[in-house]
Amino acid sequence: MKEAARQARAESRIIGFVPTMGALHEGHTALVQRSKLECSPVIASIFVNPKQFGPNEDFAKYPRKLESDSEKFSAAGVDTLFLPDAAEIYPTGFRTYVTVEGLSDRLEGRSRPGHFRGVATVVMKLLEIVEPHYAYFGRKDAQQVRIISQMVRDLNLETEIVVCPIIREPDGLALSSRNAYLSADERRAATVLHRALEAARAKLSAGVRDALQLQSTMRKVIAAEPLARVDYAEIVDADAFEPITRIARPCYAVLAVFLGKTRLIDNLYVEPVGDSEELAYHL
Ligand code: PAJ
Repeated sequence: MKEAARQARAESRIIGFVPTMGALHEGHTALVQRSKLECSPVIASIFVNPKQFGPNEDFAKYPRKLESDSEKFSAAGVDTLFLPDAAEIYPTGFRTYVTVEGLSDRLEGRSRPGHFRGVATVVMKLLEIVEPHYAYFGRKDAQQVRIISQMVRDLNLETEIVVCPIIREPDGLALSSRNAYLSADERRAATVLHRALEAARAKLSAGVRDALQLQSTMRKVIAAEPLARVDYAEIVDADAFEPITRIARPCYAVLAVFLGKTRLIDNLYVEPVGDSEELAYHL
């Protein structure tokens, strides 16, 4: 992979990179499509990273679909598919980890201790191997891409991180490889994340700027869904990922909700338009 990337750079080509864990859906292929607008070659990776799963999480049962995944990526126009194996990424005796302090401890980091250390470490290694000009990430994992952007800045990497919008099912459910775990009833109930975020957006459009009020709106929607159990539902600053009291700067409404054993996340990104009272919503 290093040699192929070196060759592309020697030819002054612009390398785009899309890291994934496979079980591909249109959220992943949208990252490839975006990358193709700006880069050639487009390199994608599939690596189910053991270091970002907790001991009681779904590493063993995470869907692995190499054959259909390679078809999807080549149909989307991926030029090179990078499929490292775990022994290659983490050889015996591996001891070096990347920790992005502060940002990694809250929300996803609190519910999944060690998760972001695993993510930052593997993304650092992948960026170091591929050395892409641009790397593409989904806003679905808003805290993840915030942490990766911080890492890139702190460690002087030359890659530009590009954040892409969330791709959803027609009923609003954000596409996720983990949606495959849902039973039919849980799948119907899973729209509760999008419904809660829509309810928050409706309040914002009606002029509500109090974060606690928005938070309680989201919690009420989730509480009304018998199959759903909230893990967190918060309004946080888009930069620090710390709770805020009033909506005045770019921020996220972030949700993690259990449907049975399956934990799903989603978010609404809100930013003021210029100096006006008006807000732009990214759902
Ligand atoms: P994975 O969950 O496979 O996601 C790969 C990329 O696809 C991430 O950038 C994620 O944010 C994006 N993505 C997932 N669902 C999306 C959706 N509905 N709309 C838009 N983008 C979406 O995230 C990871 O893998 C891993 O943590 C990884 C970064 C590869 C490191 O192991």
